[in-house]
Amino acid sequence: MTRRVLVTGADGYLGLRTVQRLLAETDDRLVLSVRAADRTELADKKSRLERETGTTAHRRVEVVPADLTEDAPLAGVATDLACIVHAAARTNFDIGRDTARRVNADATARVAEFAAACPRLDRFLFLSTLVSVGCRTGDIAETVTEGDVEHANHYEWSKEQAERRLAERFAHLPWSIARLSTIVADDDTGRVTQYNAFHNTLKMLFYGLLSLMPGLPDTPLYLATAEFTARGIVRLTRPETVGGVYHLAPSPDEAVPLGDVMNTVFDIFERDPAFVRRRLLRPEFCDLGTFAFMVDATRGLGASPAAGALRSVAPFSEQMFRPKRFDNSRLRASWPDAPAASGLPLVAATCATLVGTRWGRNPAPNGVTPDAVPQ
Ligand SMILES: NC(=O)c1ccc[n+]([C@@H]2O[C@H](COP(=O)([O-])OP(=O)(O)OC[C@H]3O[C@@H](n4cnc5c(N)ncnc54)[C@H](OP(=O)(O)O)[C@@H]3O)[C@@H](O)[C@H]2O)c1
Repeated sequence: MTRRVLVTGADGYLGLRTVQRLLAETDDRLVLSVRAADRTELADKKSRLERETGTTAHRRVEVVPADLTEDAPLAGVATDLACIVHAAARTNFDIGRDTARRVNADATARVAEFAAACPRLDRFLFLSTLVSVGCRTGDIAETVTEGDVEHANHYEWSKEQAERRLAERFAHLPWSIARLSTIVADDDTGRVTQYNAFHNTLKMLFYGLLSLMPGLPDTPLYLATAEFTARGIVRLTRPETVGGVYHLAPSPDEAVPLGDVMNTVFDIFERDPAFVRRRLLRPEFCDLGTFAFMVDATRGLGASPAAGALRSVAPFSEQMFRPKRFDNSRLRASWPDAPAASGLPLVAATCATLVGTRWGRNPAPNGVTPDAVPQ
């Protein structure tokens, strides 16, 4: 029997890629929920989704408006769903606590309440993040976090709150939590169409706005492509895949140390004549206290580029001092043919794209125009 699958945040970066894969790899019928302030925004989002999913897919796709911060946002959706992929969220690291709670934690509980009213549901997949585990260090198992944990920012905290609510209040649901790594490129070619803290930090280093790098050179970074992540998401939606927490991320031995990432990045930067002319030194690593002092010291500088650069790195800098080993053996068991992570070659390819396009200002050689504006 054909399954009906709801995807929230379906027009977001990963939501859309998940939809495209579900259309290509399954015969599921899809309900795509999007946030839209009015009819014009809904019509715009519908036509973009139609364009991006291909005309032949239309008969399998229904688009519904839903602001998940409102009461009963999915009341208009038929409850004969087999699966829900909850991708909607506010994902910026500098988000305020109240917004993070409303959009990321409360809204997840609201979608779970709707899920509980779907009698045929066999999977509720919540997209979370590796950093929901906060400032813990060492071995991290694929289990829901227990006990008190500190977080580097409200985004991380809100994702952990959402995970806990699922585990504690919705134990009766067939839930899975996919903790995702940092996505640095669309695929292994290094093409970038969504900019995040990783890309913005590299931009500041390239333009000389960051002369000290907060972090320990040995801290492993878990970097992935959207292609790997969307494939994994689709795998975790399949009814034969068991529920629970998954680290949808490279294995610990595929994670790349921060120091090696920095060396790779500067090897690419130094191929660019304009960068070489600036005669910038490679940044030294500094401790968290020194970095916090610098961020404080620049507060009086208001909107200067250097102050803005430091403030934008500050919300996640603490994680650069908190090395973790994310066990992903549950993921590997459920997805034995998962592709290997590309590690430093992916960093190099991504960095070359960023330098070549000047962070999306110039068209890429293959004609791709990034659809997001760097923060
Ligand atoms: N991309 C990554 O590197 C990454 C890494 C780890 C985890 N994740 C997780 O993966 C999921 C998808 O991330 P993404 O990169 O695809 O994010 P994204 O591109 O920012 O998309 C987020 C989507 O959520 C929607 N949304 C926001 N507020 C909403 C609300 N109140 N009601 C309904 N929809 C709302 C957005 O709609 P509008 O645009 O209209 O606001 C957008 O469609 C998120 O849960 C994120 O935490 C992503």
